[in-house]
Amino acid sequence: MAPEPNEDDGRWQEAGDHATSETIPTDAIIRGTDVVKEYETGGQIVRALKGVDFGIAPADFVAVVGPSGSGKSTLLNLLGLLDVATSGDVRLRGRDVSTFTDRERTRKRKETIGFVFQSFYLIPTLTALENVEMPRMLDRTPTKTRQRARQLLERVGLGDRLDHYPDELSGGQKQRVAIARSLINDPDIVLADEPTGNLDRDTGDRILELFDELRRDENVAVVTVTHDDYVAEAADRVVTLIDGRIRETESRRANFEEGPDP
Ligand SMILES: Nc1ncnc2c1ncn2[C@@H]1O[C@H](COP(=O)(O)OP(=O)(O)O)[C@@H](O)[C@H]1O
Ligand SMILES: [Mg+2]
Repeated sequence: MAPEPNEDDGRWQEAGDHATSETIPTDAIIRGTDVVKEYETGGQIVRALKGVDFGIAPADFVAVVGPSGSGKSTLLNLLGLLDVATSGDVRLRGRDVSTFTDRERTRKRKETIGFVFQSFYLIPTLTALENVEMPRMLDRTPTKTRQRARQLLERVGLGDRLDHYPDELSGGQKQRVAIARSLINDPDIVLADEPTGNLDRDTGDRILELFDELRRDENVAVVTVTHDDYVAEAADRVVTLIDGRIRETESRRANFEEGPDP
């Protein structure tokens, strides 16, 4: 199916058999227009984002690159509903996020977003299974949660490591636990900050394969900040931030069939 032409011309990926082409632009999960984010510290204003446009569609794979201090984490925080824009329009499924109460924003974040970090942030005193259950610890659905956590660990290839503690796992395995944890609430988007930053190339490739599977099988969009070229090359789009502005948005079509280099 051919994509609708749209006014965001060039920012969206062109046609293809990938799920994104069918869903763009009507079904963007989150989109932003002319988004500005300022921080005030000690009477000084830092403009971290100087009017950026973005949109994330189901099953999208977007890499965010750029030098240190260019606004990558700021952008991720806005996408993750961890912070609100100073000005501009950010919409989650068409709803202006600036109208959300804190409580609503927290709930939407929980329903919509999963987070994965470079340093995994697993709790050392909890098993892999318990770490995956963590985001749902306060929900009163322990049986369902356990079932889902086990399923997710199997999904990421760790079905035989449920009761292992983080220090009994390799870096790649820890990251896979963290990815399973990010999926416990069935998010629409996984936001990752340097998810392969601490991993060797082979292990990083496995993480990319996993992201591909999640996109294909569960329609999860992945937005990742990265300094690794091979990660950016696997993405559908590369958003380059330079000093708070989007300098360039490229489509480098990932080929699902081919997969990463052996
Ligand atoms: N909480 C904050 N308070 C003040 N300034 C901040 C804060 N967070 C980020 N900044 C500033 O905003 C700019 C962008 O930061 P950031 O988004 O973290 O960049 P990146 O992730 O690309 O390294 C930088 O100049 C940084 O110093
Ligand atoms: Mg950062």
